[in-house]
Order: sequence, then structure tokens, then C-alpha cells
Amino acid sequence: MLVVKGLEVTYGGVAEGLRGVDLTVEDGQLVTVLGSNGAGKTTLLRAISNVLNAFNGVVTGGSIDWDGLNLVRTRADRIVGRGLIQAPEGRGIFGRLTVEENLRVGGFLRSRADQKTQQDHVLELFPDLSGRLREHAGLLSGGQQQMLAIGRALMANPKVLLLDEPSLGLAPKIVDDVADVVRRINQEGTTVVLVEQNASMALSMADYAYVLENGRVSLHGPGPELRDSDEVRRLYLGQGAEEALDAAAVAGQGLGDGTKEQA
Ligand SMILES: Nc1ncnc2c1ncn2[C@@H]1O[C@H](COP(=O)(O)OP(=O)(O)OP(=O)(O)O)[C@@H](O)[C@H]1O
Ligand SMILES: [Mg+2]
Repeated sequence: MLVVKGLEVTYGGVAEGLRGVDLTVEDGQLVTVLGSNGAGKTTLLRAISNVLNAFNGVVTGGSIDWDGLNLVRTRADRIVGRGLIQAPEGRGIFGRLTVEENLRVGGFLRSRADQKTQQDHVLELFPDLSGRLREHAGLLSGGQQQMLAIGRALMANPKVLLLDEPSLGLAPKIVDDVADVVRRINQEGTTVVLVEQNASMALSMADYAYVLENGRVSLHGPGPELRDSDEVRRLYLGQGAEEALDAAAVAGQGLGDGTKEQA
């Protein structure tokens, strides 16, 4: 279980990234963190992965505990080694490396045999990548790059997977594909923390959801409850999106990737 308590983060000694965040993720859950630009979503993931120092940020209060491990005091590489893996914002794939080389980077802490098993699993999840192993990753489409970013994180065989806005910049159909894969990864037993601005996509699959605003949790509750909450619709999905959400609910499908543009 991952337990964040009263977490405060400051950047450069002045800017407040988080101002007292509480969050709990039980093993096997899919938990989403929603919030608009600058709300503190990425900051929260950076704090959990203990990579804030690379961004001139520091935890100034509170705690992060993962199964008895104090993550604020554990080196980032040890956290990765224990199986808590983050797929960063903006995909962060290596464009000059091939698809296969990118995957290998993700699995570098594992034995060769493990790498082979994981790569087979990743290619089964993302069949689109299997015919492109020798292509340069920079030549892939946005959706394929996102799949590769998730695939690379999976190469480390995570117990907990942190995903930072995987739907960003993708067409609605591709967002659905990404959502399907995230759901499947979770169903196979991996705990998932999904940071999103696409509330409709995220709430369609989340066991539990948090809304961040200005570095604080403004709302939290079970995914379906938040999806139906007027507060979330008003605060987060906005007026136009609210109507679209109703229409999508009637049509029995997700809203897709439209929320960011409308925000
Ligand atoms: N490296 C940094 N230096 C200074 N301030 C930062 C840094 N990174 C983030 N911040 C500030 O911390 C706050 C939270 O930013 P964060 O990137 O966590 O938001 P976010 O919710 O991920 O936003 P987005 O949806 O745009 O990715 C913002 O006010 C931001 O300006
Ligand atoms: Mg972010």
C-alpha cells in the first residue's frame, strides 16, 4: 500500500508545488489523480519516485510510505529496483534509439531471461510495436510513442506503475486504445496511479479518484461516484464537456480526448 500524508513540496525554495496532500493507493487498485495545468499532478509523481531534486524541488513536509519503505529517504534507483516505475510526462522516449533499444533501457535492471519474458508480454499488449522493433522511435506516431513509453515502463515489471497523462495529445480512438491497455495492465495485477486531465477516460476505469487544485486535494472518492458528481462536472469537466459527457453516457462510450482543448 502506498500512503502519502500531508505532503508538501517546494520548488527553488519558494514556489509551492504541493500544500499538504493525502492519498492512499491499495495494492491492485487503479487510482486516478485529476487536475488542470499546474495543479501539482506531476509534482506528486516526482515526489513518489523521489526525483524532485532533478527539478530543483524538495519535500518540505509530510511523508510517503510504500509497504514500510520511506520513499522520501529512498534513492530513486532503489525505488525503481523495488518495482515502483514511472512513465514520465511527455513520453520521454529516446527518438534516436530503436523501439527495441528503448524497451531494453526500461528493462536494464532485470536479468536477460526476465527481459525476454517482459518484452514478449509488452509486444503482446502492443502488437503495433512488434513489427517496428528496428525502427527509430522518433519516427513513430504520437500514439505509438505513448505505447512505447508505457511498454518501456512495463519492461521493469512494475508492482506499481505511475502514468503521467498518457492521453495527452492523442486522437480519441487512440485514447481508447491506451485506456484499454491501462485497464488490462491493472487487471493483470499491477497497481496503477493514473494522472490525467482527461477526466472522462480516467474516471471510466478508476477504483478511486482524487482531484488536485493548486497543490491541494479538493475532492476525492470512488471513481464512479466522482464521475457522477456535479462538483466534478462543474469544476473539472466544464460546461461544454458536461453536455458531451451526458451524450457520451447515453451513447455508452467515453468522452475521448477533448477535455484539454476545452479547458
Ligand atoms: N521545476 C520547477 N520549478 C519551479 N516550479 C515548478 C517546477 N515544476 C513545477 N513547478 C510548479 O509547481 C506547480 C505544480 O506543477 P506540476 O507540473 O506538478 O503541475 P501538473 O498538474 O502536472 O500540470 P500539467 O497538467 O500542466 O502537467 C506549478 O505551479 C508549477 O509552476
Ligand atoms: Mg504534469
